[in-house]
Amino acid sequence: MSPNPRRTAWPALLALALAACPAPPPLPPDEEPPPPVRTRPPVTFERTLTDRHPDPSVVEVDLEARVSTVELEAGNPIEAWTYDGGIPGPLLEATVGDRVIVHFTNNLPEPTTIHWHGLRITDDMDGVPHLQDPVQPGETFTYAFTVPDAGSFWYHPHMRSAEQIERGLYGPIVVHEKPEATPELDADRYFVLDDVRLTSAGEIAPPGGGMMDEMSGRYGNTFLVNGRAVPPSFSFRRNDVERWRLVNTANARTLEVGLTGATFRVIGTDGGLLPTPLEGLSRLELPVGARWELEVRYTADIASLYARIPYADGSDTTRYDVVPLIDGRSTGPGPGSPGRVPTYPAVTFPEVSASAPAHELAFDAYEGPAGLVFTINGVAWPEMDMWSAVAGAPVALRLVNRTMMEHPFHLHGNFFQVLERDGRAVDEPGLRDTVLVNGSETVLVGTNLENPGRWMYHCHINEHSGLGMMGEVAIER
Ligand code: C2O
Ligand code: CU
Repeated sequence: MSPNPRRTAWPALLALALAACPAPPPLPPDEEPPPPVRTRPPVTFERTLTDRHPDPSVVEVDLEARVSTVELEAGNPIEAWTYDGGIPGPLLEATVGDRVIVHFTNNLPEPTTIHWHGLRITDDMDGVPHLQDPVQPGETFTYAFTVPDAGSFWYHPHMRSAEQIERGLYGPIVVHEKPEATPELDADRYFVLDDVRLTSAGEIAPPGGGMMDEMSGRYGNTFLVNGRAVPPSFSFRRNDVERWRLVNTANARTLEVGLTGATFRVIGTDGGLLPTPLEGLSRLELPVGARWELEVRYTADIASLYARIPYADGSDTTRYDVVPLIDGRSTGPGPGSPGRVPTYPAVTFPEVSASAPAHELAFDAYEGPAGLVFTINGVAWPEMDMWSAVAGAPVALRLVNRTMMEHPFHLHGNFFQVLERDGRAVDEPGLRDTVLVNGSETVLVGTNLENPGRWMYHCHINEHSGLGMMGEVAIER
């Protein structure tokens, strides 16, 4: 047999290599190659809170509410209420299981609190003013909690919300999956969508807009994405597959959004990733308070997110205006292949059932001597229809809308799943903390109310909750 020249060459090469280099560290026998490290792109967002804690599983940040100058419209500085001087507030970022410590200072002219919308924490840290003393002007409060769920959330005051949120107090939260469960996407973007009412001088119109605002909540005349009058621009790489997180922080307006120049699958809802991405939707309805997470793929070199809103003067209910919210431009092809499908972690949801014992929450409104009053089960907050549940016991909440207006129902500290609308089963998968109940509609949601504590629920139209549409459930261990 003739010798294999490549084999015979090896000893000589090896001898040369050994002579040239110091001895390499010995390899442990039978070492497995390390598991592939999943890398996640940083979340694209203008400002992120700085973690000053050395332990990687603790996020410790400072946050201040103060009056500041912002430019919602480029070149037009105005006064607003801000977290750390800008709108939206800086991104709070953590990884599931982390301990989060927020040293909050209130430098606003009035008391406030911070509510961590969607985080299943303990009720004493939930930022509602009947469980926590409001933080007075000039005072500080330290919020500390552990984040049990990965997903997209947000924070905002829970006092005089119709005014405090409208003036600019809201910010995004991302709780990352553990590295081994992180989907591999090329970019991660958080778009905070708002609709604000500006005066002709471009200032945030003073609150108190009369009957119309009480009725439907305050609608704005200007859309903001990440605090800028639309449409701000961004750039992307053509072959990238991206993760987009959307939240609606408006006072009242439900957004219907879609994409041009790109396609999407829904990969997550309020409570994090879905077991299977949802395909085939062309537009999404995003009620106030709710979040969507999308897997976005570009199909053109110009792409935009748009809102579809009913035709301006309401004269023709079949017509819509299309408002671009953000405009993206490609900087060329990325290194990835456009058809690649990211892997998503296995996700299972708690079992819920439409036949679980039902608790009814009926939404209504009437005209009182001082204006409109919004009620749940006939009473207006702070009066309330007290009820209690046992943690972990299945409950079906029957949300009955006795009004013609829509009400985005929000439950604190717990998730639910949407089961039926007007008695018909629906396919609206995902863990939610917010669901839109349309005018005169009944929505059935299932939950196991797993998180003990006193938890508020309310309409997330801030004018409606401010006029009484709030209640509380006590979940006992
Ligand atoms: Cu986003 Cu009780 O609120
Ligand atoms: Cu409402």
